[in-house]
Amino acid sequence: MNIINARLRHSNDLYSLEIHDGLFDKITPQSSLLSASESSLDVAGKLLCAPFVEPHIHLDAALTAGEPNWNQSGTLFEGIERWGERKPMLNEADIRRRVLKTIELLVANGVQHIRTHADTSDPSLVGLKTLCDIRDELRDQIDIQVVAFPQEGLLSYPNGLQLMEQAMEYGADVVGGIPHFEYTRELGEQSMKTVIELALKYDRLVDVHCDEIDDPNSRYLEVLACEALFSELGSRVTASHTTAMHSYDNAYCSKLFRLLKKSGINFISCPTESIHLQGRFDSYPKRRGLTRVKELREAGINVCFAEDSIFDPWYSLGNGKLLRSLDFGLHICQMMGYQDFQRALDLITDNGAVALNIQHNYGIEVGKPANFIVLEGEDDYSVLRNQGEVMLSVRGGEILMQRQPSQVSYNRLAV
Ligand code: FE2
Repeated sequence: MNIINARLRHSNDLYSLEIHDGLFDKITPQSSLLSASESSLDVAGKLLCAPFVEPHIHLDAALTAGEPNWNQSGTLFEGIERWGERKPMLNEADIRRRVLKTIELLVANGVQHIRTHADTSDPSLVGLKTLCDIRDELRDQIDIQVVAFPQEGLLSYPNGLQLMEQAMEYGADVVGGIPHFEYTRELGEQSMKTVIELALKYDRLVDVHCDEIDDPNSRYLEVLACEALFSELGSRVTASHTTAMHSYDNAYCSKLFRLLKKSGINFISCPTESIHLQGRFDSYPKRRGLTRVKELREAGINVCFAEDSIFDPWYSLGNGKLLRSLDFGLHICQMMGYQDFQRALDLITDNGAVALNIQHNYGIEVGKPANFIVLEGEDDYSVLRNQGEVMLSVRGGEILMQRQPSQVSYNRLAV
């Protein structure tokens, strides 16, 4: 496959890309616009970039909102209750149908790398097993990492630890946790140490739902970061949500950031989910409930955006469009400066790849797998501003998804 007239991020030139055996073979700047030929795919000056990364989504719960009951309060905790009512209805066919439909949505919107959480607070582990099976079946089309996620507590849910070990033995890629939901502070802290021990024992990554609450006293992040530092797992560890950091006082944050930076851990923020679920116990003023994305980024700490939910008990919208999450996130975190726009796509591409520890095989570089998307727009700014559609998604040099351009005609407007 040969591509011509492509724009790459952070460059004003046009490029030709040659692909052989599924890898980028040559990437060459063009001196002028080339004319299309039968042997080349002309992308007409559109932006070609690495595929979007969805680093935090709950595929096992997707497309279940309102079944059997809606989350009326909009709180995280009612979401967990409503999901508890849906869980007895789970079976492999139900999960498989919803997961495949959701993956289709994600692929249609440029995603080729997914990290999904699978609830292990379920003695049957049907969600986890089905997601691991789908991961293996779709390996050629999409990368999926499965997090064993103890939704109702690693140490508080009956046999939570044994279920986690079973999940590791079945082949989950990542150890999860939820310290702020454990019954006590002591259990929350212990769960962070246990998560790290399991990651070392089974040689897996770590991704914890950490401090997903507005409580400024929820400080499991420091325990997780400290354990990551001492165990030298560092960048193999991710803290998702950390919404309590929004409510920490600045003096504590100043001390905390020193540890975060040293530890090398990654952060994932879910803007649409957190603006919806957090601040629910506030009257006015209402907290935004997002972690300090801007400050983390300025401190040189890796942070990315994710969708978290698509039509589930926690969030009843969502459509697989990470550009939507990016748009929300930049607004909510007040990252609307010119420089922020120039590198906006980092938050749903490169930074997500670093969090997933896949960066060695990710990116538009000679020798790397020819995985890329082509976006309606010519740079980060124009793609973001116009919410540019994903026109093409290519994996290993083969077309995974292609979209026909939509056309608008005007009858009376003089344009
Ligand atoms: Fe989540």
